Amino acid sequence: MMDQLQSAMSRFKAQQATQTPLGSSPPHAAAPPSIVYSRTRSITIQEEVLRQRRILTGHGSPFADAYKILRTQVLHRLRENGWNMLGVTSPRDGEGKTLTAINLAIATAAEPTQTVLLVDADLRAPHVQEEFGLEQGPGLTEFLLEGRPIEELLLYPGLGRLIILPGGRGTEQSAEVLASPRMAALGKELKHRYASRVVIVDLPPVLDRADVLAFSPQLDALLLVVEDGKTSEPDLRQALHTLKGSASILGTVLNKVGHDQLSASKVRRFVSRDIKSSR
Ligand SMILES: Nc1ncnc2c1ncn2[C@@H]1O[C@H](COP(=O)(O)OP(=O)(O)OP(=O)(O)O)[C@@H](O)[C@H]1O
Ligand SMILES: [Mg+2]
Repeated sequence: MMDQLQSAMSRFKAQQATQTPLGSSPPHAAAPPSIVYSRTRSITIQEEVLRQRRILTGHGSPFADAYKILRTQVLHRLRENGWNMLGVTSPRDGEGKTLTAINLAIATAAEPTQTVLLVDADLRAPHVQEEFGLEQGPGLTEFLLEGRPIEELLLYPGLGRLIILPGGRGTEQSAEVLASPRMAALGKELKHRYASRVVIVDLPPVLDRADVLAFSPQLDALLLVVEDGKTSEPDLRQALHTLKGSASILGTVLNKVGHDQLSASKVRRFVSRDIKSSR
């Protein structure tokens, strides 16, 4: 079944521990926080759940290879710029942001020296935890709104050197909390704590919501997911226009290729290279 699934990606068009737990400062405090990681919870994930949801499980496949190529390209671009905070977004709903963020994070965390923190910052509807087949628990929302200590929220799923900060229950005020001083302080902490760590942030869509613009000051760069056969050219143009000046676009990922060749060729005008994959 899995080998019927087609996806392809394309990219690159234009382009340590201090002792005060973060949660002990009051919500909205702007002081640079620090995080104690010793309490990061190990969780067990069912491999079958991962397979069903197209999440990489460590078994080789052309699908997995595509993410490894994407990882290699992304790491190269991040390192050459001295960057480590990467957001994943797309123009609209359902184009593959979350799956791209998860699989890129897993592929990156499989590198022996690379630690990866996957942050679910799609607070209108956080889905990362659910994608791993886990029940919704506290996460970034509870950190931002209730001052829950961050070290109580982190999950270690045993997939390479991957750590997950789930989104928690989410909030209607997602753009506001993502732009809060408390989020800015956390972003600073996450960026600077470990030089060898990459932070990959799953975001809502760019269009119709202020969230990505609100969050972009925390990010070094964005990856824009485009769904073959679905993302329209005007939406892609609009998304690029919206982000202009507020975030560097590391590249574009052409996702789910194979459904509509006509629109795939339209999208290719915006991208310079494709990564094909299927499983
Ligand atoms: N390359 C792919 N091949 C097959 N299915 C895919 C691929 N990428 C994503 N999907 C599926 O498409 C659906 C939407 O993907 P995903 O949740 O990653 O999108 P999203 O952009 O994060 O959506 P939302 O805007 O709701 O957050 C999911 O069911 C996912 O498993
Ligand atoms: Mg999503």
